[in-house]
Amino acid sequence: MKRIFSGVQPTGNLHLGNYLGAIRNWVHLQDDFEDCLFCVVDMHAITVWQDPADLIANTREVAAAMIAAGVDPERNIIFNQSQVSGHAELAWIFNCVARLGWLDRMTQFKEKAGTDKERASVGLYAYPNLMAADILLYKGTHVPVGEDQKQHLELARDIAAKFNHDYKTEMFPIVEPLIFGTATRVMSLKDGTKKMSKSDPSDLSRITMTDDTDAIARKIKKAKTDPDGLPSEAKGLEGRPEAANLVGIYAALSGTEVTDVLGEFGGQGFGVFKPALAALAVEKLSPIQDEVRRLMDDTAAVDAVLRSGAERARALAEPILKEVQKTVGFLHP
Ligand code: AMP
Ligand code: TRP
Repeated sequence: MKRIFSGVQPTGNLHLGNYLGAIRNWVHLQDDFEDCLFCVVDMHAITVWQDPADLIANTREVAAAMIAAGVDPERNIIFNQSQVSGHAELAWIFNCVARLGWLDRMTQFKEKAGTDKERASVGLYAYPNLMAADILLYKGTHVPVGEDQKQHLELARDIAAKFNHDYKTEMFPIVEPLIFGTATRVMSLKDGTKKMSKSDPSDLSRITMTDDTDAIARKIKKAKTDPDGLPSEAKGLEGRPEAANLVGIYAALSGTEVTDVLGEFGGQGFGVFKPALAALAVEKLSPIQDEVRRLMDDTAAVDAVLRSGAERARALAEPILKEVQKTVGFLHP
């Protein structure tokens, strides 16, 4: 059995990287996989402080963006994590399977905790165990994500393998990452060596799923570049992270390859390329953004999707969680 699971954190500022690296790629999976679960991971979000009212709004916004991007809520299961208590229950068991040494290697924790590790939440440290639980609560087999999540998925494989080994079972599948396309790692518009992220203090570093036409054009105009024009071949982008990023975004949005984009724009300056990129971004994103805004005004509809998604997710999770509890030796007489 093949089953998809993926998640996005409702931490605000949903951006072009989330769209191109993740959500957009989910639309086609429903044809190849019987069950696809797409989860707004609110329990992951609170590993760093979230204002409660913002968390609610951002949870709806991520769900709205999934729907607006074309993820059909009838054919797929769209829900928020905290509605299905099995995630927390399985995460606890995995806290007892994963080893400190494994978590010590996680680069995302190091980045997010920064220099003051003592002040990071315990949840931020244990986060990859919860992520493994998200997937394995449904015996998920394939996980479509951006590049940055690869290390967490390797940990999920290690947890599944150790659980299976320790309890002499074949309960959990070994999950496969699915990393698609040309925009697996969209970089900041202000620094081509940093990934575009929700938490970058500069709003100019990212294009968000709620930016209007003017904001998109302004951010692309102000995007960092170098003084040279665009090369005619991909090799010419080496050592030019900002140029490579903008070309990569163009290719991803237009559904072509970097070489095609350079075929068209090679020899031109950014004065020509940036307006073309802005026009393309507006053309591709604005219908989705309009739909997100419409759905944000119809919270009852979004909530109904999340409610029914959670019900369906619970039905899939329940027998699996029971099986795990029995395997571990939890007595439920
Ligand atoms: P997050 O924003 O951390 O909740 O990420 C949600 C999804 O978007 C995950 O699949 C990430 O791998 C993906 N993602 C986040 N940032 C980027 C980026 N800059 N480029 C490509 N994919 C990204
Ligand atoms: N950790 C992921 C991120 O920050 C979000 C996430 C949580 C996830 N649980 C997941 C992704 C399970 C895939 C599968 O992007």
